[in-house]
Amino acid sequence: MTERTRASKTDGNGVVRIAAVGDLHVEEGAQTSYRELFGEVSRAADILVLAGDLTNLGKPREAELLAEDLRACSVPVVGVLGNHDYESGFVEEVSATLRQAGMHLLDGQVTELMDVGFVGVKGFVGGFGPRMLGSFGEPAIKAMVAESVSEAMRLENAMRQVRTKRTLVILHYAPIPETVAGEPPEIFPFLGSSRLAETIDRFKVSAVVHGHAHRGVYEGRTPGGAKVYNVAMHIAKPTGRPYALLEI
Ligand SMILES: [Fe+2]
Ligand SMILES: [Fe+2]
Repeated sequence: MTERTRASKTDGNGVVRIAAVGDLHVEEGAQTSYRELFGEVSRAADILVLAGDLTNLGKPREAELLAEDLRACSVPVVGVLGNHDYESGFVEEVSATLRQAGMHLLDGQVTELMDVGFVGVKGFVGGFGPRMLGSFGEPAIKAMVAESVSEAMRLENAMRQVRTKRTLVILHYAPIPETVAGEPPEIFPFLGSSRLAETIDRFKVSAVVHGHAHRGVYEGRTPGGAKVYNVAMHIAKPTGRPYALLEI
């Protein structure tokens, strides 16, 4: 994977074409290879964004398989991990493999590519709006809420580092309930947190992408009006392809 410095594929006027997809869930023994898809993305877009759940069980071998497929991608790759990438307790190994493959793996940082600031954080559960889980009662509940607050604060700290006019926020968990609609209502609180949207709305962002809700809806907006896209690969998108194409 090599980074290109040439102009955008779109129009040469500074518009950057971003292909975004989440929830690849790469696993050992699967028949699916993403080589062709990454090759296609390299022709269609300037940058590839991956919105977490890159591996199915967070196994080092799964990360190696993804890293091999990413060789077919000739544009920069930037993204975050998802909950599945934590499952086997090898986050450091998985992260190292993906970084060695050239991926800009974000966990509370910002990276600038083609004059666009990419801010990435995984996010966490907690629910939405007035029904959000509050810090009350047992220590386990308080720890859960603290993790949700911590992810929002890490997003805020990263947003404060942005120096570009255009910003894309990359999450795994959803910041709004609209883009998880279609999932069983009982699991909405486990699909994301409004604390992320509250943070996003304190800044000016070009767009937000997330994954995690495989049965959600493609498009929504934060209460403050920021555009939000659920780019989980299972979601129907205007491209008719597993990835979304955003021009920012
Ligand atoms: Fe997923
Ligand atoms: Fe997930």
